[in-house]
This record gives sequence, structure tokens and C-alpha cells, in this order.
Amino acid sequence: MAQIKIFDTTLRDGEQSPGASMTASEKIRMAHELQDLGVDIIEAGFAASSSDEVRAIRDISREIKRPIITALARANEGDVIAAAKSLQEADSPRIHVFIATSNTHLERKLGINRGECIDRAVESIRLATSYVKDVEFSAEDATRTDLDFLTEVVRAAIQAGATTINLPDTVGYALPSEIQLMIEALQSRLPELDQCTLSVHCHDDLGLAVANSLAGIAAGARQVECTVNGIGERAGNAALEEIVMGLKVREDELDHRTGVRSEHLYRASRLLSYLTGIHPQPNKAIVGRNAFAHEAGIHQHGVLKDPSTYEIMTPEMVGVPQSKLVLGKHSGRHGLEARLRELGYTLEPEELDRVAASFKELADQKKNILDEDIISILNHGVMENVPEAYRIDDLGVTCGSALSRATITVLDENGVPRIAEGEGDGPIAAVFAAADTLHDFKVVLEEFEIRATTPGRDAVGEVTIRARVDGQTLTGRGGSTDVVLASAQAYIHVLNKGVQARELEARHFAARTDWGV
Ligand code: KIV
Ligand code: ZN
Repeated sequence: MAQIKIFDTTLRDGEQSPGASMTASEKIRMAHELQDLGVDIIEAGFAASSSDEVRAIRDISREIKRPIITALARANEGDVIAAAKSLQEADSPRIHVFIATSNTHLERKLGINRGECIDRAVESIRLATSYVKDVEFSAEDATRTDLDFLTEVVRAAIQAGATTINLPDTVGYALPSEIQLMIEALQSRLPELDQCTLSVHCHDDLGLAVANSLAGIAAGARQVECTVNGIGERAGNAALEEIVMGLKVREDELDHRTGVRSEHLYRASRLLSYLTGIHPQPNKAIVGRNAFAHEAGIHQHGVLKDPSTYEIMTPEMVGVPQSKLVLGKHSGRHGLEARLRELGYTLEPEELDRVAASFKELADQKKNILDEDIISILNHGVMENVPEAYRIDDLGVTCGSALSRATITVLDENGVPRIAEGEGDGPIAAVFAAADTLHDFKVVLEEFEIRATTPGRDAVGEVTIRARVDGQTLTGRGGSTDVVLASAQAYIHVLNKGVQARELEARHFAARTDWGV
């Protein structure tokens, strides 16, 4: 039995999926979750892409100490240096160098020949080894690369010092049998592959990413690259939770294990959906809302008699809360703390203070507070760290068949109140119009979603807004039993992020100006 390394690329490849962008502080929060989950490697970002990305990689390198932290770099000097600099504070840094190797990519995208491709790979890997011991090389589009050339590139990469060789199915084209053949062929041609960790990285364009990853592992890969909820470019990457549970539930056949704490899978999934506003479809394996729901009478009957009749794993194994009636108005702070601990969350005292305050507010509106409500409160209030340029103090709305009107009282960072008024076609439009009188950003609303976290009329409504603020896409969130208030919170959240982004940009600009003087 071998230990399979879980390389999580939620914060890099996952974040590349449309609408999944996260701020640096949201990425740190997710990175903490990934560390708790027990992944071996966190790909924190692509340093050369932006200053925000560098900040996120730096912060993660400083704070997250157990897993290896890696940053992606194209095979060129600038990218490798940017990656190396961003990883300076990591205890276990890895530079991940990639270059495309298929004819299509070489000819149509890079406009270089095979010799140049190998030269660039070798030079960049050598440069990377001058900064860190741990260097990964990826042959982008490996599965559509001529096998002889792939063998040559991989041989050169190992000689140049790569310690992990990754073979991506970049466009999700391969079949499991082809992944297996590719790996077996490389292993027989390159005995030196034994000195490296062999890795697979599969995309889901044909819905085969997990099957291909498992085929890669069966053939000898000892690292698998994946993302929480399978988010990623186009149809996404292989879903981490499916790979982990596939290996765990079918250990009898696959005979490998991972270091992931499977009972943390659900909370990692929930946190990511909360941060990105992208929720897995209800029938998504492992973490979908219906993954453990039994609708048909025959199934319910069977499960009640013995869960093993229709369940190949229990909800507890992946940390799905059982929506037990848990707490109410009279449950104290200790009761709340104990339930949070049972759900796997240990909070700092000041975090607990904030959850307890939100819990009290919710308990005034909702009689029975379920586990899902508690997770929602946690996500919404507790670890939010965008400075509040605007904080909602009061909200009043009148609506009916005529135009709706909203008045929002917000407090600024110094607690000074401002009153904003607006009109619109419905209460939410009126709230947004009122909020728009507070700022000078150009805001274009791209997506607006309301979702009930639990069943019932008194459910908490979670609102996610995606908007372009001065050209930058930002995600805002709100949560309340009153969906108009939740919408106002989400809109104000977007504006606060806009203010933060503007300040960070100004600081970045000032730093560059000083440096130039
Ligand atoms: O899909 C891919 O080929 C990648 C590489 C950069 C590893 O994401
Ligand atoms: Zn990828």
C-alpha cells in the first residue's frame, strides 16, 4: 500500500475557473482549511500573473506551515524568479515549472520547435533549483504529446533537477486506458523516473478527470493534482473529495491511502462554495446536497434497517452534518461552542464572541437552529476580514406595486453615520440604488443568487453577488433570514472589497514609485 500525495490546486487552477476569483485574504482562509484537511501540497498561485497573486502566495507561505507551498511558473526566467520571491517565507517551498509539449501547443501557441521547448524547460528547472530543492515540472498537454518527445522532455527535466514530474491531461481528452499506457510506457523507457514523484493532473471535459486520476495512480503515479468541488478551467479539474473517497472506500481494490482527514471534506467544500459563490450541483458525489439523501421508499426502508443497504460510506465519514435540531434561543455560549467542536470547528475566543453574537441575533428570528445555520453564521461573520468602510446600521424598505424605496444607514470606519436613499423596481433594486449613492465606483452587477441554507420558511437566505467594480470582478456575500437585508449585506460587502482593492492598489503604486526614485 502506498501513500498518495494530494496536491491541491484549488487556489491556482481552481481559481482560474470563471467567477471563482478570491481575494488574498479569502485565499488564506481557504489555505488554512486545506491545511486542516490534510493535503500534502498547496498550489498557492501563479506569481507572474498579478501583484494580488504574489501577495496571496506570500501570505500563505508565511502562515501555512505544514504542507508544501508551491507557486506556478512558465518556463522563463521572469516567472521562475517571481515564483521564487513569492515563496521566500515558505518552510517547504516548491517551484512548479511548466511548458507545453504537444505539437498543437508548440506550433500554434508558443511558436517554438521541440529543441527550444526542451531548452526552455531545462534552463528554467535549473534556475528553479538554484532557489529551492523541490522543483516540479509539468509537460502541459502531455496526453496529446508524441510519446517519444514526451520521453525526451521528461528525461531532460529529471537531469535538470526536477523532483516531481507531472503529466497533465490539460484538455480533458484522455481515456483511463490511455493514461495508464502513457505512464507505463514512460516508466519502462525511463528507469530514472523512480527517483522522482510521478504525478497526474486531469481536467474534466469528458467527465473523466477522477477516473483518469485513479487510472494514473493504479499505473504508478504517487501524486494527484485536484481541486475542492472539482472547480477549475472549463469543466473543471479532478474533484479532490471524489479521489480521496474513491481511494478510501475502494481501498480493498486500489490499495492506496491519502493523508486527508475525510471528515473535513464537507466543510472544505462549503467554505469554498461560500467564498466563490459557486455551489456544487445537488447530485454532486460526496458533497452535493443530495449525496446522502434517500428519496425512494424502498431505499429509505433499507437504510433505516441497515445503512449499508444503500450507503457505501456514511455522511459522518465526510463530515456532512445531520441537520439535527441543535440549539435555540436559550442555548448558551457553551452549548454553541460544544456543537461547533462536534462539527469540527475550534475557534479563537474572539471568533467565538462574534459567532455567539450572530447566533443570538439569529435565534431571535428563528426558533430552531440547525447545523447548517451554524456553519452559515460561521462563514458569514466570523472570519470575514475585509475592512468595513461601510457597515450597515439600519435598513428600511417600503415596497408594493409602486416603486420601492430604501433607506440605509451605514457607519464608516470611525463609526460616523451616513444615510443613503434610493428607489427601484422592487426592494432589492431600491437597496442597491441607495447603496450606489455612497461611492464613486463603476459597478456592473454580473450575478445575483439567493439560496436557502436549510428547509423551512425561517431559513437563512444566503445571497451571493458577483459584480465588476471599476473593472475588477468581486464577490460579495450576505446571510440573514431577511433576504433584502442579506442582499444589502452582499452589496455592501462588494463595495468594501472595492475600497480595499483601491487602497491596496494605491499602496502598491506608492511602493513602486518610491522604489523608482
Ligand atoms: O492543466 C494543465 O496543464 C495545468 C498545468 C499548468 C499544470 O494546469
Ligand atoms: Zn490544469
